[in-house]
Amino acid sequence: MNTVLVTGGTGKLGRAVVERLADGEREIRVLSRAPGTRRVVGDLRTGAGLADAVEGVEVIVHCATTYGRDDVVAARWLVEAISRTGGAPHLVNISIVGVDRIPLPYYRAKLAAEQVISGSGVPWTNLRATQFHDLLATIFDVQRWLPVTFAPDKFRFQPVDIGTVADHLAELAIHPPAGRAPDLGGPRIHSLRELAGIHRSVVHRRRPILSPRLPGKIARGYAQGWNLVPDNPRGTVTFERFLRERVSR
Ligand SMILES: NC(=O)c1ccc[n+]([C@@H]2O[C@H](COP(=O)([O-])OP(=O)(O)OC[C@H]3O[C@@H](n4cnc5c(N)ncnc54)[C@H](OP(=O)(O)O)[C@@H]3O)[C@@H](O)[C@H]2O)c1
Repeated sequence: MNTVLVTGGTGKLGRAVVERLADGEREIRVLSRAPGTRRVVGDLRTGAGLADAVEGVEVIVHCATTYGRDDVVAARWLVEAISRTGGAPHLVNISIVGVDRIPLPYYRAKLAAEQVISGSGVPWTNLRATQFHDLLATIFDVQRWLPVTFAPDKFRFQPVDIGTVADHLAELAIHPPAGRAPDLGGPRIHSLRELAGIHRSVVHRRRPILSPRLPGKIARGYAQGWNLVPDNPRGTVTFERFLRERVSR
């Protein structure tokens, strides 16, 4: 029986990956900072608990994120813990489309983490995915107290369902290391303004959508489509379907 470690297995994506890999044929371990079922307690910021977490595993799906510079620290601790075991588990990493072109600090950290992994000598696979539906919904949800919804002009997104990304990651995890896998995007490309309109109609709001033009390299990246994968749209769950299902739950 294979043993698989899922870092971030308590998070949105990680939970979905665990569901897919827990088919009774493999032992699943979840790395978390808090104890619980299937969990090994550890902290990727400090390296605590990682030696036990990686001991004897054949595959590691790395879904944990600190949402900042510490993602590089986390990748370093993880590959160091792996190299100390003397084994060579397959490390599957999730990253974001455009991390090499859009200069957001978080993206820089994700890119540096990719480089730590690819340069480590550990057998690896890296999947870059576009933004999750969940993230786009949050961008609009957090504006619910404002009299308008901001959706900057020319920004485009290709949001994807977490389930689609989890299917793909789980598939990569049971196959041999593939290096950089083809980037994965959701089924449709929309302007941010269109997405705001879809959100507004599903949640029955009437407030206006404002689309200011933003300056700078980050805004240019989203306008140029450096976060998109027009050649590899995947999945059938559109942003609208995601929102409608969320409302009906
Ligand atoms: N959101 C998007 O649109 C998007 C798009 C493409 C790729 N991604 C990538 O997908 C991955 C998963 O995102 P998500 O939305 O599922 O994240 P999430 O729900 O916020 O979950 C974050 C996870 O990281 C773990 N974590 C945080 N700090 C940790 C630490 N110091 N040590 C150990 N574990 C720690 C948390 O575990 P505990 O709290 O249990 O410790 C939690 O399970 C990330 O790498 C993200 O960059 C996201």
